[in-house]
Formats: sequence, C-alpha cells, structure tokens
Amino acid sequence: MRLENKLAIVTAAASGMGRAGVERFVREGARVAAIDISAEALDALVAAFGADRVTPVVADLATEDGARDSIDQAAAALGGCDILWAHAGMPGPASVEDLDMPAYHKAIALNVTSAALGAGRAAPHMRARGGGSIIFTASISGLVGSMMSPIYSAAKWGVVGLAKSLALALAPDNIRVNVVCPGLADTPMKLGFTGRSGDPAEAAANEAKLVAAVPLGRLVKPGEVADAALWLASDEASFVTGVALPIDGGFTAR
Ligand SMILES: NC(=O)c1ccc[n+]([C@@H]2O[C@H](COP(=O)([O-])OP(=O)(O)OC[C@H]3O[C@@H](n4cnc5c(N)ncnc54)[C@H](O)[C@@H]3O)[C@@H](O)[C@H]2O)c1
Repeated sequence: MRLENKLAIVTAAASGMGRAGVERFVREGARVAAIDISAEALDALVAAFGADRVTPVVADLATEDGARDSIDQAAAALGGCDILWAHAGMPGPASVEDLDMPAYHKAIALNVTSAALGAGRAAPHMRARGGGSIIFTASISGLVGSMMSPIYSAAKWGVVGLAKSLALALAPDNIRVNVVCPGLADTPMKLGFTGRSGDPAEAAANEAKLVAAVPLGRLVKPGEVADAALWLASDEASFVTGVALPIDGGFTAR
C-alpha cells in the first residue's frame, strides 16, 4: 500500500475531487481526517469509507478560525499529520466591474487564506514526524488567465506562488509542497464557473467552449485529480517539490 500508516488531512473532502482523494488515501492505507462545511456530506463519507479510517471535522474554511482550528482538531484526532491536501476553493465573482466585495473576500479566504493557514498549522506536525507532503489545489486558472473568473485566477496564481515559496522554505524539514491544477472538472462546482447566469443553455455553451479548447477533448474526472494528489502524497514523489501539475488534457500546453 502506498500510504501505509500515514496520517492524512483533506479539506473540502466530502464531494468531487476531495472525496475521490479520501477514497484513494484510505484504500492505500492512510487514516484520514476529512474537513468540510457539510456535516451531512461528511456523515455519508464516513458511512462509505468507515469510521475507523475517516474522522469527520465540520468547519467553515472561509473563516480564519475555521481554517486554523479544523487543522488542529484533525491533527489531534489523528495523532499527527504526514499529508495535507488543502483542496478547498470556490469560483468567486465573474467581473471586477461593480466588484462584489464580500464575494471577493470570501473567494480569497477560501482559495488562498485557508491554504496558507492550513499549511502553517500542519507543518509543525510534519516536522515532528520527520517530513511530509502538502498538496494545494489550484487550477488551470492558476497557470493561465481566465476570461470568466478573474478573481479565481488571481487567487489560484496566489496558491501556486504560496506552494513554490513553501517548497523552498520547508525543504530543510523534508516537507514537500506541490499543487494540482485541474481543468474544468465534472463535479458540482462546475456550474459555478460555467453557469453563473443561471441559464442552462448558457452553461452548456460555456462548457462546450471550454471543452473545445482541451486537446484531449473532455472534462477532467475527479478521480484523475485524486490520482495525482495520491502520487504527490506518496513516497513515489519523494524528490518532487515546488511543482504545479496541470491535469488538464493538454489545455495549458498551447
Ligand atoms: N470543479 C472544477 O471545475 C474545478 C476545476 C479546477 C479546480 N477546482 C478546484 O477544486 C476544488 C474543489 O472542487 P470540487 O470540484 O472537488 O468541488 P465540489 O463542488 O465537488 O466540492 C466542494 C466541497 O467543498 C465544500 N465546501 C464548500 N465551501 C466550504 C467552506 N467554506 N468550508 C469548508 N468546505 C466547504 C463543499 O461542502 C463540498 O463538499 C476547489 O479548490 C476548486 O477551486 C475545481
């Protein structure tokens, strides 16, 4: 097993790519603390993967206390931390004209601040255990600009910069820091990018436009991103740090 006896924390763990990550981490031998805002979805996660393998932690990661305390609570429940997949994020406002400031601040808080606070709380636990792996989730919008999601793109570029900086700072402690950068993924969040107007026809047209720009010609499957996170978490990636890995069917290769 690739994560035997490892202690892993996953944020935004109860749906989509995070849930697929929990499934893989458990399958490969880790015990997982799963952080999410939805208690109901976490209950379903525990029912699916077992209370002996998955500890639920309910928190609003868009708040500073929630982002900090939930990592402390998760590490305490596990008895330490070897792996953090800080996966939480959200699309945010579609335009900077008449910028919705509460929505702006929430997007920055969930995408960037929760990652910084999470890494800051998890790192001492990893150091105490001789090293670890931190994985952030950015996006293709953290590697190139996004016509539909400027604030999201700014935030995800911030996540990539944070990861590269922490990779340098934490290397002496044998803590690796990397980023997964998915293209448009087939999860509930998809409509947050393509369907902001609420018009299903417009959402379908936006999705078709994005897929047309993907050389491999389709959306990302949640499991494909979770597989990348699993690899980055495992010893197979023991010499990989500071990398922002596109999982995008070639979208950013142009
Ligand atoms: N879906 C996409 O197209 C796509 C593409 C690239 C990157 N991403 C990134 O992937 C991550 C999540 O995407 P997904 O597609 O797996 O999402 P998803 O919609 O399947 O799941 C999101 C999860 O986050 C939880 N959540 C929402 N707000 C929260 C909060 N304030 N505190 C704690 N938990 C909260 C939800 O309850 C849910 O379980 C985000 O960082 C997102 O930016 C998504």
